[in-house]
Amino acid sequence: MSKVAFITGATSGFGRATARRFAEAGWALVLSGRRLERLEELKAELQDKVPVHIAALDVRDAAAVKALVDGLQAPFDRIDVLVNNAGLALAPEAAQKVALEDWHTMIDTNVTGLVNVTHAVLPKLLEIGKGTSIINIGSVAGEWPYPGGHVYGASKAFVKQFSFNLRCDLVSTGVRVTDIAPGMAETEFTLVRTKGNQAASDALYGSTTPLTAEDIAEQIFYVATLPDHININRLEIMPSRQAWSPFAIDRD
Ligand SMILES: NC(=O)c1ccc[n+]([C@@H]2O[C@H](COP(=O)([O-])OP(=O)(O)OC[C@H]3O[C@@H](n4cnc5c(N)ncnc54)[C@H](OP(=O)(O)O)[C@@H]3O)[C@@H](O)[C@H]2O)c1
Repeated sequence: MSKVAFITGATSGFGRATARRFAEAGWALVLSGRRLERLEELKAELQDKVPVHIAALDVRDAAAVKALVDGLQAPFDRIDVLVNNAGLALAPEAAQKVALEDWHTMIDTNVTGLVNVTHAVLPKLLEIGKGTSIINIGSVAGEWPYPGGHVYGASKAFVKQFSFNLRCDLVSTGVRVTDIAPGMAETEFTLVRTKGNQAASDALYGSTTPLTAEDIAEQIFYVATLPDHININRLEIMPSRQAWSPFAIDRD
């Protein structure tokens, strides 16, 4: 029987690369995201290798999340790995210039959405127990503050602490929990953050060597396939050409 990975945000970036990585290893896939046509393309690409179930899903909609999970039929009705990847940053400008709606969208997606999916999928993981995993995609922004990080960084700090707290409750169940915290990676992330500014995205990732979606997918697959008795609590990954800056100091 194939193992099953349930991946949110599979229409782009890390989620799509992760679907491809698990498919390479023969895992059945439940893939979701809001853009159905992207999911259909990915299913067409992967379905000769492995069983693929796709569903257009907005993770902010708790009822839709629960309906999807509860309605899964064999072979997708067992879930071995949940990859809580759907998420976004908006509004790279300073906090005092940001529309409240953008803050709400980040909280609704990165915090409430992740909680919605975790709550719906957890009973399926518990049915199997040993060796299953929840892999939450946090960010270096959840640990390290930076200008323009405001609610995005705070939402990823939630992901980190929620992951650690889940570990405490699940310690005797066999369900593992990991917070994977990437640094700069070239995906559609900056295009979304700048509301479609391709030049800004190209400028950020140009003339350096960012992580790729495939780099992160490889780490997700590694964490998910470690021996049952190993739990990676948090994995923070940066490109070699990214590091921290000195403190900012306001001067006269
Ligand atoms: N790239 C980076 O530098 C970086 C660094 C650290 C952490 N991250 C985190 O990594 C995760 C994946 O981001 P990415 O870099 O791969 O960006 P991406 O290419 O923009 O992919 C984001 C994915 O999230 C999905 N998504 C967004 N809002 C959603 C919603 N309400 N419901 C369902 N799906 C939703 C998108 O699908 P639809 O638009 O089709 O719904 C898309 O598949 C995010 O949690 C992000 O915060 C990224």
